[in-house]
Amino acid sequence: MIVLGIESSCDETAASVVGPDGVLSDVVHTQEIHGEYGGVVPELAGRAHADKIVSTVAAALERAGIERPDAVAATAGPGLIGAVLVGLCFGKAAAAGWGVPFIGVNHLEGHLLSATIEPTGPAFPFLSLVVSGGHTSLYLAEGVGEYTVLGETVDDAAGEAFDKVARMLNLGYPGGPAVDRLAREGDPQRVKLPRPQPKQRPPKTPSGHQGTRPLDMSFSGLKTAVRAHLEGPDRASDADVCASFQQAVVDVLTNRVTRAARETGVMRATVAGGVAANSQLRAAMEALELDVILPPRSRCTDNAAMIAHAGRLRLLIGERHGLDRSARAQWTPGVL
Ligand code: KG4
Ligand code: ZN
Repeated sequence: MIVLGIESSCDETAASVVGPDGVLSDVVHTQEIHGEYGGVVPELAGRAHADKIVSTVAAALERAGIERPDAVAATAGPGLIGAVLVGLCFGKAAAAGWGVPFIGVNHLEGHLLSATIEPTGPAFPFLSLVVSGGHTSLYLAEGVGEYTVLGETVDDAAGEAFDKVARMLNLGYPGGPAVDRLAREGDPQRVKLPRPQPKQRPPKTPSGHQGTRPLDMSFSGLKTAVRAHLEGPDRASDADVCASFQQAVVDVLTNRVTRAARETGVMRATVAGGVAANSQLRAAMEALELDVILPPRSRCTDNAAMIAHAGRLRLLIGERHGLDRSARAQWTPGVL
């Protein structure tokens, strides 16, 4: 089955064609316009998706050498609703026009299955840490659609913390890649920063879980500690601040993966989402005494290959969605 995937949940307009032999095309258009605002502006994102969706999908089909896929998969959430709607409505219309099946895909499920796009990817069960600009969750994946949230952030996402620290240092948006680059020249021990463990979880969380779990995470205190350091008397260089901050994030994330492996007995793990492109996190994950399989960097940040792949896995087990499938701002993977 050859599937066209469409992604438009945030600031990437992306389309990809995935078949039984893997990825046939993978086109990503990153919106540049948000840089000058220091973050994604939802209305501008929606407009830019509307501008680029036709040419992006056309390029993906052309590069794959096909005129019509066997099915269409489009991100149906979670994300900026006006942005999600552009790709979702386009995908539903294209599927209806071609007369092929349609499936709405959970963007986070796309990330959490990213490493399985390659034939060398992990077999179920595996631990999947999804660390992006909007989400930070550790899942136990036991099969397609069978995901348990073992822990998640109770406040900022890891990528959000990278972006906020980058903003404090005037490094531009998105901040993660800039912090990653600067951290290579810095001393990770120079600034003493906390490795916060959340004590209290607010009653309403993305996955709807009540009460704090041992594997939950918190990053807002870390960001505040960086700000306090920058305003203090003994200010380290930007490179040292980046290296020390990045080390703290990496320590928290690898700590949760290690503990999850111990608690579940599942010794296979992967990381996905934009922060999984971070060089230090990748090196630290590979150094763990676990079977760690990382998706290539280009498949960590938002792309449509992961959407085509996740949709294809669900289509292959007989799932289909009607054209009444609506966009969702919040959506825990595995929940129908
Ligand atoms: O998955 P993604 O492309 O979009 C969302 O679904 O959010 O993730 C974007 C996030 C941003 O916060 C960005 O700063 C972060 O991923 N990021 C990184 C790196 N590359 C992207 N964070 C740390 N190191 C990187 N190399
Ligand atoms: Zn994402």
